Amino acid sequence: MIGYQLTAYGPPASHTIATLPDIVVGPGQVLIRNEAIGLNFPDALMVQGKYQKRPEPPFVPGRDCAGTVIAVGEGVTGFKIGDPVVAQVFSGAFAEQVAAPVERVFHRPSGVSAIDAAGAATVFNTAFVAVSIRANVKAGDRVVVTGAAGGVGAAAVQLAANLGAHVVGIVSSEEKAELVRCCGAERALVIAVRDEEALKDVFKNEVRRAWSDDRGADVIIDTVGGAMFQAGLRGLGFAGKLVIVGFASGDIPAAKANYLLYNNLTVMGAPLDIHFDEALDRMRDGAAWWLGLLAQGKAQANVTAVLPFERLMQGLQDILDRKVAGKLVVQTGAVV
Ligand SMILES: NC(=O)c1ccc[n+]([C@@H]2O[C@H](COP(=O)([O-])OP(=O)(O)OC[C@H]3O[C@@H](n4cnc5c(N)ncnc54)[C@H](OP(=O)(O)O)[C@@H]3O)[C@@H](O)[C@H]2O)c1
Repeated sequence: MIGYQLTAYGPPASHTIATLPDIVVGPGQVLIRNEAIGLNFPDALMVQGKYQKRPEPPFVPGRDCAGTVIAVGEGVTGFKIGDPVVAQVFSGAFAEQVAAPVERVFHRPSGVSAIDAAGAATVFNTAFVAVSIRANVKAGDRVVVTGAAGGVGAAAVQLAANLGAHVVGIVSSEEKAELVRCCGAERALVIAVRDEEALKDVFKNEVRRAWSDDRGADVIIDTVGGAMFQAGLRGLGFAGKLVIVGFASGDIPAAKANYLLYNNLTVMGAPLDIHFDEALDRMRDGAAWWLGLLAQGKAQANVTAVLPFERLMQGLQDILDRKVAGKLVVQTGAVV
């Protein structure tokens, strides 16, 4: 089979396709023939060695894939050869085959293509952790999502909207605003300023009044970090919760404890991978929920481009260059 095997960390353009040995499925694993591979911001960090975990090369990176089961390892129940599946692994997806731990594999309902499922896996699982497990969003809640046209942002908008929340998305352009409205946000605020003081003013004056009163948001799902996080705290109302998803701005902020105390706020993290270890049943329920929403047309994977395998690394560079609205998916061609 072919795949991208990292021999050293470096920019996306430094990684090339290699011929790799076929995978022998191990105990507890499901061997998948990939039909589609989803690209994510963390993949772009991983190949550069900038992700929080740095496996020792050589290894095949890649988190999201979908295809068909071609073998099951010892001890695996619930999957058989021929099943359509989607998987969200820690690494290994950037190849024609992937051996996924069974707990990271989900049945793909009919009506959900491999392309949509691969485009949705990490972002919807992450959004589920943020929106449901951590923030416990309920019908009627006021929810602000930053980076709302990004992968996780758009998924968070859709999950919160499906729960009956009143969602406002923060984006940087009118094109992205349109995507966020299509995802179910009641409003999309185009905020071009990035300076922290200016952003704080925007959150105090516009975001917390987005619902025609000054009560502020119940929940802010923040995918951007930096100045957006600091400003986000100003958009919260009484007992508001700010959920940290990531730092797409590259800036890891610090929260002043006195601000949290005086304003009765909670700041919490929403790390995806650890939930597969600590809350697997909830993750399985969550995946069944969002896959069901996709199957029923109540949520969209927002795949905006499908690339050939040889353009996978260019896709990661486009994500880093902030050229992408929605999701990029790679279709695997000739499968060995
Ligand atoms: N918690 C977890 O386990 C977990 C899982 C997956 C991803 N993440 C993290 O979550 C964040 C978002 O991931 P994603 O897949 O949604 O990324 P994405 O699709 O690239 O979207 C990120 C969004 O952030 C906004 N942004 C603001 N400043 C930016 C900057 N300087 N560079 C790039 N984007 C910027 C962009 O929207 P505007 O242009 O509209 O501002 C963009 O749409 C990343 O930090 C990622 O590492 C965390």
